[in-house]
Amino acid sequence: MNLINIAIDGPAAAGKSTIARRVAESHSMIYVDTGAMYRAITYKYLQEDKNDDFQALIEDVSLKLVYDEDKGQRVLLNGEDITDYLRSNEVTQNVSYVASKEPVRTFAVKVQQQLAAEKGIVMDGRDIGTVVLPDAELKIYMIASVEERAERRQKENEENGIPSSLNELKKEIEARDHYDMNREISPLQKADDAITVNTTGKSIEQVTDIISDLIDKVEA
Ligand code: DC
Repeated sequence: MNLINIAIDGPAAAGKSTIARRVAESHSMIYVDTGAMYRAITYKYLQEDKNDDFQALIEDVSLKLVYDEDKGQRVLLNGEDITDYLRSNEVTQNVSYVASKEPVRTFAVKVQQQLAAEKGIVMDGRDIGTVVLPDAELKIYMIASVEERAERRQKENEENGIPSSLNELKKEIEARDHYDMNREISPLQKADDAITVNTTGKSIEQVTDIISDLIDKVEA
């Protein structure tokens, strides 16, 4: 187990989760997908008919991340495995709004910091290097062109049986980035000490190699 933490931030669909998962696997580290936590809270918000009392919502939320050998990270919301619903269009369309709310962020950041306390974590999100793990030994800011991000998301959706139009995806990604970068609390920003990795035109293997080299440097 590596005793470092790695923070990976960046806009929607830049390849963060795919790469973070790979890097965690190859370095015997644990991958934590923080977007899935905000998505799980959004799922609950939708179940509650979009009631904007976020403090009350959070008080009724217990989130657990468990690891399945075959399926990877699973999210349990009040004991129920809701992972398969987290990428639905309805959750995606509402998650930036829910994630901008103070009670939601305070709750999620606390859970994330607890998970990372023992180190050996690769965590991806929007505020990991700036807020959640400001002392992470390695911080990556991952970017890619919006065209390529939309194409990747479409492919991912296809694999999950979710129909989507490329143009709509591009608009949705741009809108979500705008919202995430301009919200009041912990907006998406590159941490001063983060290293930018542009994944446009690069394969998963190439990006994984770049990050593995960076890990070697940190550990040297
Ligand atoms: O990475 P993702 O697409 O699953 O994230 C979903 C949303 O959750 C994203 O649009 C913004 C929010 N999010 C956040 O505000 N902070 C994080 N650390 C991770 C995600």
